[in-house]
Amino acid sequence: MSAVETMRRGEISVRGLAKSFTLNGQRLNVLRDLNLSVAPGESLAIVGPSGCGKTTLLRVLAGLELPDTGQVLIDGVPVRGLGRERAIIFQEPRLLPWLSVLGNVSFGLELRGVPQSQAQARARHYIRLVGLADFETAYPRQLSGGMAQRVGIARALTVQPEILLLDEPFGALDAMTKLTMQEELARIWREEALTMVLVTHDLEEAIFLADRVLVLQRENMGAPRLIDISIPRPRDRSSGDFVKMRRALMAEFGLH
Ligand SMILES: Nc1ncnc2c1ncn2[C@@H]1O[C@H](COP(=O)(O)OP(=O)(O)OP(=O)(O)O)[C@@H](O)[C@H]1O
Ligand SMILES: [Mg+2]
Repeated sequence: MSAVETMRRGEISVRGLAKSFTLNGQRLNVLRDLNLSVAPGESLAIVGPSGCGKTTLLRVLAGLELPDTGQVLIDGVPVRGLGRERAIIFQEPRLLPWLSVLGNVSFGLELRGVPQSQAQARARHYIRLVGLADFETAYPRQLSGGMAQRVGIARALTVQPEILLLDEPFGALDAMTKLTMQEELARIWREEALTMVLVTHDLEEAIFLADRVLVLQRENMGAPRLIDISIPRPRDRSSGDFVKMRRALMAEFGLH
């Protein structure tokens, strides 16, 4: 095997990224010369106040949005639109109501021409991984919000991406379900050796899941900052280190 084949993949490199929007004749510089590298297998969380550009950045990484200047490289290759090595998960899973859980999860593979039996076998693996083995014949309307979001995660994983991009994936869930889902995501991230970029409003979620946190601010409110979360895993939300980190992160936003 050559050195290239043995190399781990899923590296993201953001170079000189800028993106602005014009709204009611006013120019809004949402991303301003952003530079960032995410290592293969790293988990990065993006936090910041509403409107600071978290979703915009994620959409640029996904290839859903073009930057004004700068570029995103995945394993050294410039992003041009959506790519198979990246999967994106939104706040709402947007399942197809007429397909079962199994159908929703295997759909993407079948679209890519994978024979149905093979697609379903792989889908079943990921349905098990997200803890829904008993529900593969259920339809989306028969699922709770947390279960539907798990289906969304299984669907994203089934196409075996190297990079998982998540935009407030647990934002619509109740507090208890959210904690369980965070633990499951931590496990899946480790087991699948994924590179993960997670947008969240929830500072605790960021500390629980991330190796580093990117703190974004609105225009004229400060430059982006990267903060290392060097707390051993699995993380305990009530440990001294965790609480200290939460305090430090809150201070980034002038909160106490
Ligand atoms: N297509 C667009 N056209 C015009 N303005 C846009 C567009 N998309 C985003 N914006 C603006 O860019 C800014 C950043 O939006 P973005 O959705 O990235 O914020 P966010 O950090 O994800 O916020 P939230 O935490 O509320 O989800 C906002 O002021 C928004 O109005
Ligand atoms: Mg957003």
